Amino acid sequence: MKPKVFVTRPLPSPALDLLAEHFEVAFHPMDLPMAPEPLAEACRQIEGLVVAGTRVTAEVLNSAAKLRAVSTASVGYDNIDIAACTARRIPVTNTVGVLEDTTADLAFALLLAVARRVVEGDRFVRDGLWREWQWGLLHASDVHHKTLGLYGFGRIGQAVARRGRGFAMRILYYARHRVAEAIEREFEAQYVDRETLLRQSDFLSLHIPKTPETVHAIGARELGLMKPSAFLINTARGAVVDEPALAHALKAKTIGGAGLDVFEQEPVVHPALIDLSNVVLMPHVGSATDETRLKMAMRAAENLIELLGGRRPADIVNPEAVA
Ligand code: DGY
Repeated sequence: MKPKVFVTRPLPSPALDLLAEHFEVAFHPMDLPMAPEPLAEACRQIEGLVVAGTRVTAEVLNSAAKLRAVSTASVGYDNIDIAACTARRIPVTNTVGVLEDTTADLAFALLLAVARRVVEGDRFVRDGLWREWQWGLLHASDVHHKTLGLYGFGRIGQAVARRGRGFAMRILYYARHRVAEAIEREFEAQYVDRETLLRQSDFLSLHIPKTPETVHAIGARELGLMKPSAFLINTARGAVVDEPALAHALKAKTIGGAGLDVFEQEPVVHPALIDLSNVVLMPHVGSATDETRLKMAMRAAENLIELLGGRRPADIVNPEAVA
């Protein structure tokens, strides 16, 4: 008999077909997060779980006595109770190496959009307000040759740096660990302390995971250190920014603007942000291209096949679980 697995979303069919070659597969037919109770119910008899953006709580895990592996079709895994998985010796995998460029593209799209007032311009034209060419119309900020600060310098941060180099930007980064000299050379990136990063960046792009230590890493104090002309870009996790403090800074124009793909209480957006024209908002779609979502789904399926086959794929996020 094939092991039973459950998939929390209707992932692309090549990934579901691949899973079905190895397992008895059931999946949630709606592209929406599942609440813990129905997920717990669906997990009672399964050995493997493929998840994407659905919370996997300790209670869900408790209901899944036979569960041996969890594979998330995302790079972030803050939605999964990793400690509870590790305590049960359940390995968890994510999808490293397939979505970094796509997410960096969106970070750069937000950066360009807010700096060059693309959304405001679009609205201006559609609203029929454009009468004449005007010297003073929609003056914006240059991007090229400015300072791009990367808070976190993992794969996505580096992919954003690569784009910044294409715009002849000066690259600064701050991260818990300084990267190898060869990587700094490749991106002409300079390691600085956190305060210098905040003070000197014209564009500050966040690339840190959500952990207890990073919640509100950008709050009123940090925003206060930024230049009044600086832009904040967040494609990481909403909770790393104190949203009311950001809304206040944007409204008071103590920073220049923001481009946000992620929010503290998704899908709820702080109401003050909605009314501001110096912020561009996107609905958490950093990795949402056809090509990349297919790669993420395939990788998640492959990882589950590896794990349930007793092998150790490279993407395990809690290696202690299989030590
Ligand atoms: C990720 O991969 O973590 C994206 O944010 C999708 O959730």
